[in-house]
Amino acid sequence: VSLIDRLLGEAQHALGVLGGLTPGARPSPAAADPAETELAPAEKSRAAALMRVNHVGEVCAQALYRGQMAAAADAEPRALFATAAAEETDHLAWTAERVHQLGGRLSVLNPLWYAGSFALGYASGRLGDRWSLGFMAETEKQVERHLASHLDRLPAADAPSRRIVEQMKEEEMRHGAAASAAGGVPLPLPARLAMRSMAKLMTSTAYYL
Ligand SMILES: [Fe+2]
Ligand SMILES: [Fe+2]
Repeated sequence: VSLIDRLLGEAQHALGVLGGLTPGARPSPAAADPAETELAPAEKSRAAALMRVNHVGEVCAQALYRGQMAAAADAEPRALFATAAAEETDHLAWTAERVHQLGGRLSVLNPLWYAGSFALGYASGRLGDRWSLGFMAETEKQVERHLASHLDRLPAADAPSRRIVEQMKEEEMRHGAAASAAGGVPLPLPARLAMRSMAKLMTSTAYYL
């Protein structure tokens, strides 16, 4: 495939993610039962903001994986990234749908998050597959921890959002374990800390924007 074809393919994928055109393959665990989603207005907007943060996380996940796939040297890690990315497509669709159900809107900064994450994924891929897999393992571990914190912060009554977050958390755990098992090396502390502060910037911005 020529470079221009690859670039067009990437652009198309990016537009699909950003335009909400990437459909999920599996039904949402939210399975919204209107009776169980009687939330007070303040709870509803808090839940929408938290789910917007999670949607941004999934936009980033798409872009990271696309970047890593584009730079991967071997077919084996590329297949691992692709498998995880496919599950993340469901996460993307579920969180977007839930934000809308809660009367919220998606982050206006998504194109920025996507571009930055793609570049980061590509850069980590260029460091070699073992580092790239290590980056994937660490990312998924941090996301898993982040999702656990959302289970504390989401309104207790918002069962549909909680089901989505729980399912995602379980799958991120699996992605992380798969990356380590495939030979991902543990990242040095400064890299882990840098990733954490970047994630913090992203999550605190996406709560509002
Ligand atoms: Fe995910
Ligand atoms: Fe994941």
